[in-house]
Amino acid sequence: MKTLVIGTGGREHALALALAQDPAVTEVHAAPGNPGIAAVATLHDVDAMSGGAVAGLAASLGVDLVVVGPEAPLVAGVADTVREQGIAVFGPSRAAARLEGSKAFSKEVMAAAGVPTAGSRTCETSAEVEAALDAFGPPYVVKDDALAAGKGVVVTRDREAALAHAAGCGRVVVEEFLDGPEVSLFAVCDGTTAYALQPAQDFKRIFDGGRGPNTGGMGSYTPLTWARPDLAEVVLDSVVLPTLGEMARRGTPFVGCLYVGLALTPAGPRVIEFNVRFGDPDVQPVLALLDSPFGELLLAAAEGRLADVAPPAFRPGAAVSVVLASAGYPESSSTGDVITGVEAAAAEEGVDVVHAGTALDGDRLVTAGGRVLAVRAVGSDVADARARAYAAARLVTFPGLQRRSDIAAEPLGVVEGASLR
Ligand code: AMP
Ligand code: GLY
Repeated sequence: MKTLVIGTGGREHALALALAQDPAVTEVHAAPGNPGIAAVATLHDVDAMSGGAVAGLAASLGVDLVVVGPEAPLVAGVADTVREQGIAVFGPSRAAARLEGSKAFSKEVMAAAGVPTAGSRTCETSAEVEAALDAFGPPYVVKDDALAAGKGVVVTRDREAALAHAAGCGRVVVEEFLDGPEVSLFAVCDGTTAYALQPAQDFKRIFDGGRGPNTGGMGSYTPLTWARPDLAEVVLDSVVLPTLGEMARRGTPFVGCLYVGLALTPAGPRVIEFNVRFGDPDVQPVLALLDSPFGELLLAAAEGRLADVAPPAFRPGAAVSVVLASAGYPESSSTGDVITGVEAAAAEEGVDVVHAGTALDGDRLVTAGGRVLAVRAVGSDVADARARAYAAARLVTFPGLQRRSDIAAEPLGVVEGASLR
């Protein structure tokens, strides 16, 4: 099987590595890719936002499966164009990608499907926002209705700050605050059937202890030893399958990864958000433990025959990813800083280095984004994987490097965001 991964980040590097592990996968191509992905895949230039360009590349390479990594091309309908060319694609149609592209739409689908989630109101005017803030009370949760690359959500006790965020957005969703540890659950879906991957936790804030602004994710780990053992099944039954049913009923079946962001509240799991692709860095440790063929799984989902293949299996043990971010992140990022120590880190036992925002300047590896790379390690348990990840991460340096020191330091992960409560 020949595969093509679309995207440039840590998620795409982790996807390419997992595809390459599948004995049935003979070729991994990636576009546009990054210097880390180049070690495992053949890179090609492409405008990832152009369905025609992606479909053309897939056809010229003769690939059997296209995996679209990021949300923006999915929301723009890139998967539709690839599918229209008769090429199997893992990733939802433009219509189904609205589950991430519009917060108001996803809340509407959740309500119709009876999915447990935060109470919410969609607001168009400042008077509506004020009324909603007062109805739910603090901490206030205000979400931009549109895609905002992780910057659309403000959670604050400061009513003025909540109002100011809403004023800068246009249409917003104001929500009830969900209290409890956050979990990422990835469901591989073929439109009607779904398989859950092992749950993971993502550490979203920039500073230790869950302080500071939200980021795209500063580290992640799996398994969650403190969560109920049947969590994946409960979420499949109460969230994923009802959502697939509702999307199919609307004539827009969901094919791809439904990323369920959950809060484990005292009243049970509640959906914080849907995304329509794998999460990064959350998916990195999950794929490090995957012990079944990934290409076969994604191809079966893309072809609507997931029930014909075995559910994904996972190795015992644990995996941890620690993100190294550049100076200024998340408000800004620094580019062109020389990175050293990547080879030494990757040579450690059980460790690999997942590239996100890196580039080559001649033969030197340099920073090229906010989240630069992640050091990922597997180990016999969370403490062992964590120790290996941090030992290797300390070998990597670049000017202005930012790294949390408490990724997977249980039970700290459980109280991520606790400063707001
Ligand atoms: P989202 O982009 O929807 O994932 O939101 C970003 C982050 O804001 C989440 O990971 C949570 O930490 C936080 N958040 C979003 N919605 C809520 C909510 N209803 N209650 C508490 N925290 C939330
Ligand atoms: N790690 C969060 C995300 O991928 O959206």
